[in-house]
Amino acid sequence: MSFYITTPIYYVNDAPHIGHAYTTIVADVLTRYHKLFGEETYFLTGTDEHGQKVQSAADARGLDPQTHVDELVERFRDIWKELEIDYDFFIRTTMPFHKQVVQDCLQKLYDKGEIYEDSYEGWYSVSEEMFYSERELVDGKSPQGKEVKKITEKNYFFKMSKYQDQLLKHIEDNPQFIQPDTKKNEVLGFLAKPLTDLCISRPKSRLAWGVELPFDRSYVTYVWFDALLNYATAIGYGQGAEKEQLFNKFWKDAIHLIGKDILTTHSVYWPTMLMALEIPLPKQIFAHGWWLNEDDAKMSKSEGKVVSPLDMKDIVGVDGLRYFLTREIYLGNDAKFSKELVVSKLNAELANNLGNLMSRTVKLACKNFDGVPPSSLKDARTSGLMELAVGTAKRVKQEIDTMSPNTALGHVVDLLDATNKYLDELAPWKTVKEDKDAAAESLYAALEVLRISAVLLSPVMPSKMNELLERLGITAPADIAAAEKWGILEPGAALVAGDPLFPRAELPS
Ligand code: ME8
Ligand code: MG
Repeated sequence: MSFYITTPIYYVNDAPHIGHAYTTIVADVLTRYHKLFGEETYFLTGTDEHGQKVQSAADARGLDPQTHVDELVERFRDIWKELEIDYDFFIRTTMPFHKQVVQDCLQKLYDKGEIYEDSYEGWYSVSEEMFYSERELVDGKSPQGKEVKKITEKNYFFKMSKYQDQLLKHIEDNPQFIQPDTKKNEVLGFLAKPLTDLCISRPKSRLAWGVELPFDRSYVTYVWFDALLNYATAIGYGQGAEKEQLFNKFWKDAIHLIGKDILTTHSVYWPTMLMALEIPLPKQIFAHGWWLNEDDAKMSKSEGKVVSPLDMKDIVGVDGLRYFLTREIYLGNDAKFSKELVVSKLNAELANNLGNLMSRTVKLACKNFDGVPPSSLKDARTSGLMELAVGTAKRVKQEIDTMSPNTALGHVVDLLDATNKYLDELAPWKTVKEDKDAAAESLYAALEVLRISAVLLSPVMPSKMNELLERLGITAPADIAAAEKWGILEPGAALVAGDPLFPRAELPS
């Protein structure tokens, strides 16, 4: 099994906000889980640096586009670094190898007769960089409510309509191709109407910032034609046998994690482009939902009202933010984002549940047993807890394999809840005076649960869980076999209580 996941490549028109951090963190978390399960993984992210939006952003700053993108790309790379995003490659669409393959693909399609020239009249939305036909407009605006203007010009078209039936069949034969099902049904709805061909050129007189059409140098290609190809060029497609090894190894497993705002480009444009290029389709397109701002609108750069991931980092730390974003939404749904929500969720699940379990058990064990207490399984409740704990890894894996990271975390939360309840019942802080063996048994069990939970949460909170394992005296890197086994902590080994692992977060006043 191998695992290849991509995020959208983000427009470098501004700094990333919580929405971009979300997709990127979830992709990172999924990758780290698959690594933990022993699979070979590849994680790709990057930036979409051509097109109208970027050109306009550069104009607004009075910079030439290349200078603008060279500056802004660093904001993305810096933030990803701060958020402990561990990607394998960061592609920029201005990289020469990428532009070369885009041109090769355009030429190939042109030579095959898949691209033709025609005069075009349409309604163009600058902010979305999309052409709409008359019938697609809603009250004289784009379906998303953006301003449009009428444009007539000679352009080049990709014969997208030719692939409609083939695409429909692929979606029907491969129910996992577009997920969640609600999004698959949206795409099927879209494909119930005849597909048009896709305008894939922009005259340089209107937009110069892009990849030139190799067969007509007075045009650049439509930014989406350039951008979508990144998923293949980044892993070596079209760059000779040696570089293509990576592509050959990972392509069939490709999962494109995207926001639902870009469902059509990924589920219709991209597969039909691949069909024309005779490249197999990726395994899955998974469209997640949106983080909404205080007005219940999508958090977005163009609308303002965005929250910066770095502000959140200052309040709840990197691990806290990663946990919240992974845990709060069922992948596919929308949810409101507010600092208050983040703080209350983390105080409940990390400070109270996990953090509290850790501090009370470790302190008690240090005080009464000078470290890890002796282990036993005399009480049926301890065996019950042990069974729940060693079975959790499997449940987590099942959820990760079906792209449900929030439910995966839910299994660990359930285990921690059960352990807190177990401890409340067995009350080692009381029994330690009259029945030291019983106290040892329950404390040892709670510590083992903490150890197992730390392994299972390490993909989400790499630093904190590493610290937790260290405090439990474990120095080896987290590995899944250790989460399926009971009794790894050595009685007598040292424990470190230390400061609270998850201090209660507070909003800045
Ligand atoms: O569309 N909630 O780039 P982009 C959740 N360059 N996710 C969000 C979000 C929100 N409020 N806001 C943004 C582009 N995102 C193209 C992509 S891919 C070949 C080209 C995330 O900068 C989400 O992943 O507008 C969304 O799809 C993406 O950022 C859009 O980023
Ligand atoms: Mg966008």
